[in-house]
Amino acid sequence: MHDVVLIPGDGIGPEITDSVTTIFQEAGAPVNWIRCSAGLTAYEELGNPLPEETLEAIEKHRVALKGPLTTPVGSGFRSVNVELRKRFKLYSNIRPAKSLPHIESRYADIDLVMFRENTEGLYIGKEKWVAKDKHAESIAVVTREASERLIRAAFDYARENGRKKITLVHKANILKYTSGLFMEVGAELAEEYPDIEYEDLIVDNMAMQMVMYPNNYDLIVTTNLFGDILSDLASGLVGGLGLTGAANIGDDAAIFEAVHGSAPDIAGQNKANPIAFLLSSLMLLDYLEEQGTADKIRQAVYAALADKKVCTPDIGGSGSTTSFTEAVCKNLG
Ligand code: NAI
Ligand code: MG
Repeated sequence: MHDVVLIPGDGIGPEITDSVTTIFQEAGAPVNWIRCSAGLTAYEELGNPLPEETLEAIEKHRVALKGPLTTPVGSGFRSVNVELRKRFKLYSNIRPAKSLPHIESRYADIDLVMFRENTEGLYIGKEKWVAKDKHAESIAVVTREASERLIRAAFDYARENGRKKITLVHKANILKYTSGLFMEVGAELAEEYPDIEYEDLIVDNMAMQMVMYPNNYDLIVTTNLFGDILSDLASGLVGGLGLTGAANIGDDAAIFEAVHGSAPDIAGQNKANPIAFLLSSLMLLDYLEEQGTADKIRQAVYAALADKKVCTPDIGGSGSTTSFTEAVCKNLG
């Protein structure tokens, strides 16, 4: 049995969490959930969006599955997601986007992985007013150390997972120091991995290339902000945000989550697609070296996708979160 911290999260979080725990139970997954809270729910109930007990539990067990957390825009508390990534040094944010059977999207055969730098860039929270409501400033930080550990993790992942090519995405023509440094580190590391094809591309061009020729890409490595945006784009290529999982991985801790947020527009309506969160939880099983159980659940999910009546509306279905969950459970049996 593996002890895994479970944070249901906000908005649709509790609904997709129920789906995952039900399916894990039915599949006999060897996971013992340690339930903790964080996000807006924790803030409203306990006055703290990131309670000490939650941090201690992650500190102790080193592995967590986390539902989406609402971050208030403008004022209010700072992003708990960003804080968790920083605190546990989860420097690689890995986001696979792979076409699924029976899902209609623009392309039928997408198979991309995004490695997003997760601890610095423009997301360090160093923002301030120079003149209130008139002039704002934000600082981006790129270090050789963080760039190197992320890009090295990407090359190692490519080798271990049979990926042939790495595309580093930057904006070094304008951001000559920050993006320039990231690009320089990539070029240096590429020399150590002659077996992996390597190229770099400017981010705006990459956005167009990914929409028009996504099959030219295999593994993409980039800084925090660009990775945030391009990974949603990659989700769009395979049928939407309800379909892509993600892992935040450091040297001694890992937190798994969906790419999407708390989707307040559909919360509590039994409409949330649990697939993204499920795929994240399968990445978790892979990380725990429980590939057998992960594969069994994956096949049950693929089979459930054949019946539109059980699928959620975001992928053209007429079913619900619970009908999809029940279908997956039935396929496991
Ligand atoms: P969102 O990803 O929550 O929603 C964008 C659109 O996609 C909405 O129309 C939503 O209904 C739909 N959608 C998302 N997930 C879905 C699912 N599983 N099934 C069906 N439809 C789905 O992004 P939004 O609205 O920008 O953010 C809402 C909140 O989530 C914000 O407070 C934001 O900060 C937070 N957020 C949290 C993340 C995390 O915890 N890792 C990641 C992204 C956003
Ligand atoms: Mg995002």
